[in-house]
Amino acid sequence: MTETTTHGLNGGSTTGSGAPAPSDRNSLTLGHTGPILLHDHHLIEQMAHFNRERVPERNVHAKGSGAFGTFTTTEDVSRWTKAALFQPGVETEMLARFSTVAGEQGSPDTWRDPRGFALKFYTTEGNYDLVGNNTPVFFVRDTMKFQHFIRSQKRRGANGLRDNDMQWDFWTLNPESAHQVTYLMGDRGVPASWREMNGYGSHTFMWINAAGERSWVKYHFISDQGVRNLTQEAANQIAGEDSDFHRRDLFDTIAAGDFPSWTLHVQVMPYEDAKTYRINPFDLTKVWPRGDYPLIKVGTMRLDRNPDNHFAQIEQAAFEPSSVVPGIGFSPDKMLLGRVFSYADTHRYRIGPNYQQLPVNRHRVEGAYTYQFDGPMAYDHAGDRSKYAPNSYGDPYSDLTGTPEDSWEADGEMVRTAYELRPDDDDFSQAGALVREVWDDAQRERFVGNVAGHVLGGVSDEILPKVFEYWKSVDPDTGKRIEEAVHAGRDEKAPAPGPTERVGVI
Ligand code: HEM
Repeated sequence: MTETTTHGLNGGSTTGSGAPAPSDRNSLTLGHTGPILLHDHHLIEQMAHFNRERVPERNVHAKGSGAFGTFTTTEDVSRWTKAALFQPGVETEMLARFSTVAGEQGSPDTWRDPRGFALKFYTTEGNYDLVGNNTPVFFVRDTMKFQHFIRSQKRRGANGLRDNDMQWDFWTLNPESAHQVTYLMGDRGVPASWREMNGYGSHTFMWINAAGERSWVKYHFISDQGVRNLTQEAANQIAGEDSDFHRRDLFDTIAAGDFPSWTLHVQVMPYEDAKTYRINPFDLTKVWPRGDYPLIKVGTMRLDRNPDNHFAQIEQAAFEPSSVVPGIGFSPDKMLLGRVFSYADTHRYRIGPNYQQLPVNRHRVEGAYTYQFDGPMAYDHAGDRSKYAPNSYGDPYSDLTGTPEDSWEADGEMVRTAYELRPDDDDFSQAGALVREVWDDAQRERFVGNVAGHVLGGVSDEILPKVFEYWKSVDPDTGKRIEEAVHAGRDEKAPAPGPTERVGVI
């Protein structure tokens, strides 16, 4: 006898179109043993939508999480920027997302890697996105190299495995990476938590004040929790026990009412200084020594609200260095200029062309009117307002002409060359200063161990001499110690288990 119910628990669920769903338990069949019927559209809808639940993961920075909060400008920096969010006393709602770079969505949070530090400020003048890392420099200085760099950190074609040989091959063939690799192999390569790491805009940006005067700036978000890191041993252990260690820490800490904060400082370089400064100030592999350009306090960022839904607010969050606001501009940094194209392009692919309409990405500007229309999943619309500009019906038309306020001088033939290097520019000296002058003996000791351990994890005899040469160029003594540690490790190392010989299998 057939069992019939008119509604289920809690009033019953609905189909996608809002009608009562027939059953979340049984599919429709012809008799008890008959085939499933194609017109069970509720079953079909469930299966079909499930098959489309994921969007592609980010090609880089796939694993991460974040939280909402507020940025408060506590100081007066209006002599350098007119940006509304950086005027004294202004509070701006924001979103932060932290991430690792090379691992996939499920990868452990405690793998050694730079950490992403992506910020979206919902300002009254449009969204401002600052998409930085927890280190002030980067591996390469030309956008052309970025894709090659990332592939060297990801997986090999044949076996689908990550490969330290590829990583060191890339780094040693591109010696401008030395400064960033020194950071990476040092203590900061594995933060204890996202709360206990600093964030940097890394690139040089332009600030423009109300009088149209331009300056160059670098952003430093200094953790109010202090900076703490994990040893390689602790990181390895945690990776095996809780691959979501950092995600969990941030969520639980905020849920418990303990809100992490960072103090924003900037280094400001007068516009004209850039032309003659002893270091190319747009080279992303370099820092500006603080003795030349000290930190100037701007304000505080505090994170106090967890996402309600990870997919909607973190996975679909789209950060893009192209989102700037009046008073903030780009610079001749070739990496930054490449990124200004790349991110919006990847969002159109990863999320869809109308990604800016999703609540997490939507700006908060009253009366905004953009000449973008329709497309897949268009939600916002302008009714019957003009679809073209200029028009005779009072709909907005922008018409700035002449030199934009965020411009800089450029002259000469089109070329494909490396940056012009300044007297104090080279690939190794800032990395060497970090090792010799910033770190203490214990930090140097751990660094040698981290590099040697990484190199022992699969670097071939062909690449090995280049690795030693690379570190000797950074610091002869440290390079020698790395070489000795690698040789000692190779002598001691038991042969790697073969494919059928699994460690711990009894
Ligand atoms: C030319 C160089 C670069 C290119 C072409 C590039 C490209 C990309 C792409 C395609 C994504 C994925 C975005 C998404 O799917 O949502 C991404 C994510 C990211 N990149 Fe880059 N990147 C570059 C350099 C950098 C640098 C120098 C930094 C830091 C200073 C950086 C920080 C980040 C961060 C933090 C994310 C994750 C954003 C998020 O949390 O959603 N990238 N990058």
